[in-house]
Amino acid sequence: MPTTVITGANRGLGLEFARQYAADGWNVHACCRNPDKAVDLAALAESSGGTVTVHGLEVTDGAAVAALAESLGGAPVDLLLNNAGVYGPKQQTMADMDYDGWLDTFATNSMAPLRLAAAFAANVAASEHKRIVTITSRMGSIEQNESGAQIAYRSSKAAVNIVMDCVANELRPEGVTCVVFHPGWVRTDMGGPSAALEIDESVTSIRAAIEKLTVADTGRFFNYDGTSLPW
Ligand SMILES: NC(=O)c1ccc[n+]([C@@H]2O[C@H](COP(=O)([O-])OP(=O)(O)OC[C@H]3O[C@@H](n4cnc5c(N)ncnc54)[C@H](OP(=O)(O)O)[C@@H]3O)[C@@H](O)[C@H]2O)c1
Repeated sequence: MPTTVITGANRGLGLEFARQYAADGWNVHACCRNPDKAVDLAALAESSGGTVTVHGLEVTDGAAVAALAESLGGAPVDLLLNNAGVYGPKQQTMADMDYDGWLDTFATNSMAPLRLAAAFAANVAASEHKRIVTITSRMGSIEQNESGAQIAYRSSKAAVNIVMDCVANELRPEGVTCVVFHPGWVRTDMGGPSAALEIDESVTSIRAAIEKLTVADTGRFFNYDGTSLPW
């Protein structure tokens, strides 16, 4: 039975990834900041017959990330799914920037995925599937950007794209496939009610695209439907 570690698994895309992988019989290590408040995730774990394990994890806490990896020992992790993310502060334009909020956005969206990748690299390399997937955003594409707004979010996602390209290069000799996915504009708390896609539509599509990955794909930037996006 393959194993996945998913961050931000208490709501939105992360919860749906946990649901779908659990339904497919995977072992799911579902991470969230506040397990006490994660009612939907607790219900999923309860009904999973022991295959979904909930872990408290604030992804910016390096000691907590290391402790979680330690607790899994050398167990194989077929898929590390860096999903947790924030949109950032209200003020994020050139004229009006919340610089502290921007730093926090970087800590969650850009730096934490590297912490997770480093902590679980050996577990992933020891697995059958050997995949690290980070949920980025098309808003981090420099080529596609035509806006001067959402600077904190855009820059944090552009940053995680190059971070994960570095991880891809670093772990290529281990046979690890490390890629980033834009999930589409999805009806989550972050995406809002007007978004184009239902949560399950996005997650089903990304999972199908993940399934087709080979190590030759490492370092690529994908749309949720498995097509390439420009950096
Ligand atoms: N929805 C979209 O349209 C869209 C588009 C492009 C990219 N994305 C990306 O998709 C990913 C998932 O987003 P979503 O739409 O599902 O958003 P969401 O509904 O707002 O959920 C975000 C998740 O990330 C968790 N999280 C945030 N900061 C964290 C931290 N420091 N430590 C641990 N967990 C943290 C949240 O936990 P709490 O409940 O504790 O806050 C929550 O579980 C994000 O990386 C986002 O940038 C989304």
